Amino acid sequence: MQLPSPVQQISNFSDQHISLYLKREDLIHPEFGGNKWRKLKYNLEAFKAGNYKQLITFGGPFSNHIAATASACRHYNIPCVGVIRGSALDSQNPTLIKAKAHGMALIPVSREAYKLKMDAQEIQAIIAGYPNSYILPEGGTNALAVKGTQEITEELNNQIPDIDIILTPIGTGGTAAGIINGAKENQFVYVINSMKNIELENILSTLVKVDRMNWQIVHDYHFGGFAKSNAELIEFINAFTEDYSISLDPVYTSKMMYALRDMLETGQINSGQKIAAIHTGGIQGITAYNYMQLKYKDPLLIKTF
Ligand SMILES: Cc1ncc(COP(=O)(O)O)c(C=O)c1O
Repeated sequence: MQLPSPVQQISNFSDQHISLYLKREDLIHPEFGGNKWRKLKYNLEAFKAGNYKQLITFGGPFSNHIAATASACRHYNIPCVGVIRGSALDSQNPTLIKAKAHGMALIPVSREAYKLKMDAQEIQAIIAGYPNSYILPEGGTNALAVKGTQEITEELNNQIPDIDIILTPIGTGGTAAGIINGAKENQFVYVINSMKNIELENILSTLVKVDRMNWQIVHDYHFGGFAKSNAELIEFINAFTEDYSISLDPVYTSKMMYALRDMLETGQINSGQKIAAIHTGGIQGITAYNYMQLKYKDPLLIKTF
């Protein structure tokens, strides 16, 4: 594992005069790096400290969290179960194939039950079948996850002093909350929302423990919603990969970097700033995206190197 995660300077990202750094959380570990490691760290410690038999968690069929948890549990020898959204498992899905290979037991649940989460009888019945389970919510977000993600900003501020602006993507909120909690008063955190019509301000407010509003959720770069993309975004990812030899996933980090470029060009972020963007990983999402694209006749694929 590579900790602290490296910070890489990115040159010529924009015509505006800025200093840009990418905190490469994706390099912490090839399978359970990124924000996933930060969110899992204290949860896995709690598992080991308690009298648990297995860990149960939840995710969509292409979930980065499912992929990372399966791999980390394998690494730490923890039996684990993945409750997967959707009434059937696709036997060709690369994310699920890998999770299963790591030893995760996969259980599909209907979308309706998945939406109700712990209130669903279907889910309660699954949990009842696994006594003494450590329950890790969807996306791995809970108080221990936020304790872990706070270390991203603390580490960053030790590595690069005087960062003015930090950017992070958001899904369930655990990553952004920790990053905000760990930020200094004079730093501003832009949280790039990759979902449509989601009221994340309230969710984030309950997870954020500091009493200051030096953060803002930016809603303009979702590209149609969660896991949605278009040719412009895919071309942006491929160009970024070619320019910097860094992969961006199509769900989170690509939208964050696209947002940053646009916010610089449109003056929403002024030049002269020292900016850090958090590369939260999710690289397995590229394989998942390309798998889905290959089902179409004229696929627009994300290049890997
Ligand atoms: C690569 C990546 N970045 C960012 C996020 C968002 O993190 P959070 O769910 O903690 O908001 C996720 C998913 O959870 C992710 O997989």
